[in-house]
Amino acid sequence: MHGRLITVEGVEGVGKSSVLPVIEKYLAAQGVEVLLTREPGGTELGEQLRDVLLNTEQHILPDAELLLMFAARAQHIKKVIRPALANGQWVLCDRFTDSSFAYQGGGRQLGFQRVDVIAKWVLGDLEPDLTLLLDASRETSLERTKKRRQLDRIETEGDEFFERVRTAFLERAQLGPARVKVIDANPDFDTVANAVCLQLAECCSRWLTETAEP
Ligand SMILES: Nc1ncnc2c1ncn2[C@@H]1O[C@H](COP(=O)(O)OP(=O)(O)O)[C@@H](O)[C@H]1O
Ligand SMILES: [Mg+2]
Repeated sequence: MHGRLITVEGVEGVGKSSVLPVIEKYLAAQGVEVLLTREPGGTELGEQLRDVLLNTEQHILPDAELLLMFAARAQHIKKVIRPALANGQWVLCDRFTDSSFAYQGGGRQLGFQRVDVIAKWVLGDLEPDLTLLLDASRETSLERTKKRRQLDRIETEGDEFFERVRTAFLERAQLGPARVKVIDANPDFDTVANAVCLQLAECCSRWLTETAEP
């Protein structure tokens, strides 16, 4: 018996954190309790690195940013994600490796190839079973992040950066259409939540039957 790893991706303000409880509730109704976690973060070291990555005023070089993200991820995978999956638990993660492809590969222009090298090293054979990519226009996500009191170091990047990030996310979906499901995150919350549940119903029902089998 092994658990499933579900990740939620997309740029700031698309509604990732808002749909997590929807996913949690949907799966709970199917009898599955998820372990909810996030990146960067998820461990003590990960949360400390998150603070450095998002809140420092220092200039962080793209390579250093990439490596710090994967340092946090290495700790998270080994200490939290793999043990949970091995235990049969389902893990729901707010951002994961696709964010590194999108932000450092696309946004910071390091390219997918470089990210791939370190992703293979840190993840080995681990891959999310399902990735929900919330996609919305820059106007939509900007409007939603405006509601926040303070923007973090990465959120303060400009429009061109975010367009590169969004494009890179969509490229990830094109490269792995069986795993990455794109959800239109422009509409109102109930519509997005509905689309997420429909996608879950499609992808998870098979796994739920497998899990229920003796
Ligand atoms: N579909 C939606 N329509 C309108 N507002 C939304 C929608 N989804 C999320 N929001 C709001 O937008 C803001 C950012 O959402 P959040 O879930 O924190 O985004 P993320 O975690 O992707 O950065 C929050 O104030 C949230 O309530
Ligand atoms: Mg969030």
